[in-house]
Formats: sequence, structure tokens, C-alpha cells
Amino acid sequence: MLTWQPPPPVAADARVLASGGDPTVPAHSGMMDYLLGGDFNTAADRAAVEKIRAVAPDIGEVVAENLAFYSRALRTVFKAGIEQVVELGIGMPCGDAAHHLARRVSPGTKVLYVSGDKPVATHAKSHLTGEATGIFYNDIREPHRIPEHPEARRLIDWDRPVAIVVRDVLNYLQCEDNPQYLLARLMKSASSGSYLIASNTTSESISDLLYEQLAHSFSNAGQKLVFRSQAEMESLFAGLTLLDPGVVGVHEWRPEKPTKPLPMQFLGGMAIKP
Ligand SMILES: C[S@@+](CC[C@H](N)C(=O)[O-])C[C@H]1O[C@@H](n2cnc3c(N)ncnc32)[C@H](O)[C@@H]1O
Repeated sequence: MLTWQPPPPVAADARVLASGGDPTVPAHSGMMDYLLGGDFNTAADRAAVEKIRAVAPDIGEVVAENLAFYSRALRTVFKAGIEQVVELGIGMPCGDAAHHLARRVSPGTKVLYVSGDKPVATHAKSHLTGEATGIFYNDIREPHRIPEHPEARRLIDWDRPVAIVVRDVLNYLQCEDNPQYLLARLMKSASSGSYLIASNTTSESISDLLYEQLAHSFSNAGQKLVFRSQAEMESLFAGLTLLDPGVVGVHEWRPEKPTKPLPMQFLGGMAIKP
């Protein structure tokens, strides 16, 4: 007798499942991966993104602007002589990831990814562990563990300047997590001349409908999305010297081409440790 079998998962889903991901719950990393055209996401991630896209058809361009900011900021620090990057809250690296940019602009740069997503860390370990790259799992709320991890010790010389990157991660930290303290703790491990590059969603210029859909989608993914104001974003760089043009919409941060108005924006900035 024939019994019904569920259809085999597509390759992207299969990769997530094989790495211990839960196919029934959307993951932020999987949603972002799908938006950026990656191949490490599940049907639940894709469905969650399509619900957001129904309200904000340009949502892909919003995250692309944030990616472009990251790329411009990293190229700036590479030109300033930085040869070490620690990127926190990484999803599956795709597009112009730090190690791809480094290879083109500053070969030999060490890039350490720290992921708060266990399936991402598991899957990426095999192809991101090399002479100049590494990845491990660590919740950003435990910043003191990062410099002590064997991969961090292998790749990063904390006595030399490093660029610490937190792109689209702080949105998932609640006020009680004290993101300002977490970043300050991380920067304490870094030497003078180190950079902090950070971006976060802002509620400025977002429609109520999109706000509600985002809040709904992210609560289904098990977390509350926190939009931060300009002043809150600036406070994350306390004790550092913010570089021009300060904390601005990411499309306004040293732009290289004009951009069109988008349904929401990230605020981003870069600062140096005196
Ligand atoms: C929308 S994704 C963005 C991924 C990547 N940073 C990017 O911009 O493409 C949000 C990321 O934040 C990470 N994240 C959320 N809470 C975290 C925490 N407490 N510690 C570390 N990472 C966290 C998730 O694992 C996920 O990879």
C-alpha cells in the first residue's frame, strides 16, 4: 500500500536541517540569508520574509543598503591599515562578506566570525575554518568569552587594532541586556586604534503597518525586535570617537551613489577607540 511521504526538503532546507536547525520556526539568520539570496534557509524563513515583503516590497533593498554600508565601512578600515576583523552575530556569510572583501582589498587580513546561531556556526565551520578565517558560536550577551575562545586566540592579536562589527544584531538585544555595556566590554579587549562598526534598525520613517508586520514576524521567530533611536544608537559608541558623518541612515554614510527612499532604514556609524 502506498503511504504519503512528505516532499524532500529543497537543498537550502536540507542544509539547515543537517546542522540542527528547526524547520518549523523562522530564524533571523535564515530570513536574512533568504533576503540576501543565500542558500541556508527554510520554508519557514522564506514564508516569514514573504509576509514582510507583502507589506514592504522594497525590504530586500533595505537590507542591501545595510550590506553596502558594511562594505564601505570595512573598506575604510582596511585602507586605514586594519588587518583583523571580528564580526558578531553573523548569519551564513553571503554576498560581500568580510573575508571576501578582505581578500580583494587587504589580503592576509584575519577574519573571525562569531555567530549566535548554532546551525550557522555548525554549518559554516567546515568551510570558514582556515589560515585567515574562523567561526564559533557565542551569544553576544557573553562578550567576555569571545577573546578567550581558542579560535579568537588563534586568529586575533588583541594587542593590535581590530575592527569589531555588529551589523543588524543589536535589534535583538533588549534594553535589559544592556547593549551599551556589552559593546563597551568588547571594546575593552581591543587595543587603542580599534574600530567599532555598528548598525541597527530605527523606527524613524517606518509605517505602522510595516512596524506591526515586523514585530509579528520576529515574535514568531522567538524574539522581540528593538528599534533604536538616534540618541540610543549614539550611546552605543560611548567612550569612542565617532567618525564622520556620525550615526546616520546607512545610505547616508559616505555614500557612493544616490539612493531612493525606502520603507524603513538602518542607522549606522563607525568609531575609533582613542
Ligand atoms: C537578521 S540576522 C542578521 C545577520 C547578519 N548580522 C547580517 O546582517 O546579515 C540577525 C542575527 O543576529 C543574531 N543574534 C540575535 N541575537 C543574538 C545574540 N544574543 N547573540 C548573538 N547573535 C545574536 C542572529 O543569530 C542572527 O544571525
